[in-house]
Amino acid sequence: MPVVSMKEMLDRAFSDRYGVPAFNIVNDLSIEAVLSAAVGEKSPVILQTSVKTVRMYGRDQLFGIFQALVAGIDVPVTLHLDHCPERSVISDCLAGGWNSVLFDAHELDVAENLRQTTEVVAQARSFGAHVEGEIEGIQGVEDGVGSDRASVQQSLEVAVDFIKRTGVDCFAPAIGNAHGQYTAAPVLDHQRVTDLVEATGVPMALHGGTGLAPEQFKDLISRGCAKVNISTALKETYMKAGLEFLTAAEKKGKWDPPSLFTAQRAAVAQMAREHMQTFGSSGRAW
Ligand code: 13P
Repeated sequence: MPVVSMKEMLDRAFSDRYGVPAFNIVNDLSIEAVLSAAVGEKSPVILQTSVKTVRMYGRDQLFGIFQALVAGIDVPVTLHLDHCPERSVISDCLAGGWNSVLFDAHELDVAENLRQTTEVVAQARSFGAHVEGEIEGIQGVEDGVGSDRASVQQSLEVAVDFIKRTGVDCFAPAIGNAHGQYTAAPVLDHQRVTDLVEATGVPMALHGGTGLAPEQFKDLISRGCAKVNISTALKETYMKAGLEFLTAAEKKGKWDPPSLFTAQRAAVAQMAREHMQTFGSSGRAW
């Protein structure tokens, strides 16, 4: 099986300054589509699950689907749990085979977040797994997690201290990015990424990838964003391909589920390929 640790995947991307796309997959079809893009592009890829998707399937069923679909795939793949504020779900996924988790404790004060994240890092290590940390909320609600309010921005010193003392493998800074479609052109604090990377040597995770311009991705990746999250683009591509297909099916009076799945899979794979090319991960599989 081509499953590798998140740390190995991100350390390589960080040192060679490309971004590994982390897609929030929603079901078997979207996993298959993203994997086919990764194989076609020879790109490493992170499949990430929201807590909602874990709950929808149940941990073991979702992990079973992941295992079945990555068997025989010859590019590096990592399974990651996205934004999770609940320690019980973190524990469950680590015990169930996930390679990494984002412990999203930004709603706690920084001292308590630091204390608990340190525990999560120790717990993850006992499973050979890795941890992404966060001290500021990324604006926007995604799969029921998060808030539309901009969260409190912590100082650089506080963020650096958090990263160093917790030992997280990757950090998600709030830099003006947001989950969902941007309602106004995003103004990103690129310098914060550079400052955090220079002070810690730890790869950053870029959240809110949907709607950023190719030049924004490339600039942030060159500064050390080695993990780039894409969720809304996948969901919209999947749903809109379905809508287009079903509208045509209704007109023709022809209802063939496998043709619907083929159309959705092709659209999601194309979206994933485009991101891999922009992020420079194409051709980087080892
Ligand atoms: P988008 O939904 O804006 O692509 O953000 C994805 C993300 O950051 C998941 O954590």
